[in-house]
Amino acid sequence: MSEEIVVIEGDGIGREVVPAAVSVLEAVGDFEFVEAEAGDAVKEETGEALPQETYDTVADADATLFGAAGETAADVILPLRTAVGSFVNVRPARAYPGVDAVRPETDLVFLRENTEGVYAGHEDRLSDDLSTLTRVVTTSASERLAEYACEYVEEQGNDGFQVVHKANVMRETDGRFRDAVVDVAEGAGVETEEVLMDAFATRVCLDPTQFDVVVCPNLAGDVLSDLAAGLVGGLGLLPSANVGPDNALFEPVHGTAPDIAGEGVANPSAAILSAAMLLDHLGYADEAENVRTAVESVLEDGPRTADLGGDADTEAVTAAVLDRLD
Ligand code: NAI
Ligand code: MG
Repeated sequence: MSEEIVVIEGDGIGREVVPAAVSVLEAVGDFEFVEAEAGDAVKEETGEALPQETYDTVADADATLFGAAGETAADVILPLRTAVGSFVNVRPARAYPGVDAVRPETDLVFLRENTEGVYAGHEDRLSDDLSTLTRVVTTSASERLAEYACEYVEEQGNDGFQVVHKANVMRETDGRFRDAVVDVAEGAGVETEEVLMDAFATRVCLDPTQFDVVVCPNLAGDVLSDLAAGLVGGLGLLPSANVGPDNALFEPVHGTAPDIAGEGVANPSAAILSAAMLLDHLGYADEAENVRTAVESVLEDGPRTADLGGDADTEAVTAAVLDRLD
């Protein structure tokens, strides 16, 4: 084992939770870590939120672990997703025993389109009164996402997935997305259920067990996965993977948490669970499971950080996870 893992702490609690996740990776494997910079702090220093060197390092790596960027988040994460050629953002949302959750029965994963939709960057200020945004949807990106979803459900032993859209209103863009996704699934013999995105928001709150694998356009996946974070006990728990054909970037779903940054009290679980997804991606399934089991055990028995009602700091929770590794 000596894959090269790029580590970008970024800003705010990224500087606290990423070192925690790195210490866990160090405990289970023999990796070469390459530090790189991105975010508000490096922008202040150099004028650039995402230095070319960081972009190139990420593009050439086997995998990247990223914390969060503050004001410059969009200038950092959108190009970094491009750097790894990411076509899907994988966001599992599950409740853990011992964690006070609005919906403790939640266990689902969002597969979010990761390159286009309203995040494609085509926004214009046309006058003092008018701004517009062009939404981009391609058949090719939608099909690529659907192919991944089909492989994903097959691996998980599921029959199919739900596809979330609003094609009844956005007939052209979401219509294209829906048609492409459903066609690919039909070709692969995978079942799909269509759910309108507003109805999904209600249904997932009332009964999250109706959903296992949820395929979404970009913005819907962003918002609905944060909603699911609320159902399971907060943003400190949700990891994510930006997956490309042969490279990937892993990051907690949360941001820089300016309200608690610098205090050393952030929940490192999301970052450590992101590291577990990274291990899976690199083919270390046993190590990934070892890490997940340790995190689950700490979530169940404590110590816990303040967001989960505890009074432990990041270091104590990380030490407990390290302690419970096999
Ligand atoms: P946020 O996720 O940073 O914080 C929302 C709330 O959740 C805060 O109360 C925070 O304390 C809490 N929280 C988040 N992660 C936590 C953790 N690990 N442990 C304990 N509590 C946690 O979202 P917010 O406040 O909307 O954004 C703050 C900054 O982060 C903004 O500048 C935004 O642009 C950036 N951001 C960056 C992202 C990225 O780099 N991918 C993603 C989301 C936001
Ligand atoms: Mg978000």
